[in-house]
Amino acid sequence: MLKECIEALNINPEGTYVDVTFGGGGHSMAILENLRGGRLISFDQDEDAKKQAELIQSRSFTFCQANFMYMKKYLKLNGVSQVNGILADLGISSHQIDSPERGFSTRFDGPLDMRMDQKGGTSAADLLNSYSEADLHKILGMYGEIKNARTAAKMIVQQRVNKPFSRTEDLKAALQPIAPRGKEFKYFAQVFQALRIEVNTEMKALEDFLHQCGEVMAPQGRLVVMSYHSLEDRMVKNFIKTGKVFGEVEKDFYGNEIKPFEAVTRKPVEASEEEVESNNRARSAKLRVAERIEDRK
Ligand SMILES: C[S@@+](CC[C@H](N)C(=O)[O-])C[C@H]1O[C@@H](n2cnc3c(N)ncnc32)[C@H](O)[C@@H]1O
Repeated sequence: MLKECIEALNINPEGTYVDVTFGGGGHSMAILENLRGGRLISFDQDEDAKKQAELIQSRSFTFCQANFMYMKKYLKLNGVSQVNGILADLGISSHQIDSPERGFSTRFDGPLDMRMDQKGGTSAADLLNSYSEADLHKILGMYGEIKNARTAAKMIVQQRVNKPFSRTEDLKAALQPIAPRGKEFKYFAQVFQALRIEVNTEMKALEDFLHQCGEVMAPQGRLVVMSYHSLEDRMVKNFIKTGKVFGEVEKDFYGNEIKPFEAVTRKPVEASEEEVESNNRARSAKLRVAERIEDRK
């Protein structure tokens, strides 16, 4: 949904824009093409994304290899206090999923890594070998939405006593007996998704990021977020509606709602049938667009 994202940003050629999920740089390049005198600051925590960003030779472009949960801090370091639009295309890139050594894909055997930031943190193998059964149950149920999360957590804990998890094939073999027949691919994809979300603390990063969007966005600036998971979409939806990722909107003394954004599209935009045909990942994509409201005096 490249075209939809760029249109939703409503780009002012002289404005300052942020792409917090650079990935392969497709969206960033499209934003840069629309700038004349403006500026783009892109983020990604992944080393390969950084290498890709280094290929862009433009004075309008700055790349920050950082988690977007620190967006405001990095913008300040680059002399930016207000921006006119922010884009987030959440999740992992096709490059990450197609690289067996990163461990994101159910299609190849590889190390159970799944870290977007390869410089540190807990890998999927560390998590599988150390988390309690109760925590594994919670993660698989909440982030993977698998129906037999309790049984899966139990199998993982039993399995690791014999041999600690290290490869993606180990995990698939351990869960093969309880994967729904004929739907194994979907089941493993959900399990991998759950682990990836936990490894990269994706929910916390999204929450912190959303709050900072209200703080740095100029009036009428656009927030454009593409999510691929119902929990993410719920957080984005609620933030736009209430100014918080959980809970109700607060009101001031006069009954005015205190929230930074107003939705531009009431319902999320979804990919066309053609796009889903050419890119299966687009099937679950939900695009939400909101505009910064002017602060009351
Ligand atoms: C779906 S891809 C983005 C693809 C990109 N829009 C393009 O045109 O190629 C998501 C990217 O965001 C990065 N990412 C995800 N969460 C992040 C976070 N919290 N901080 C920084 N980068 C993140 C991933 O490393 C990945 O490269």
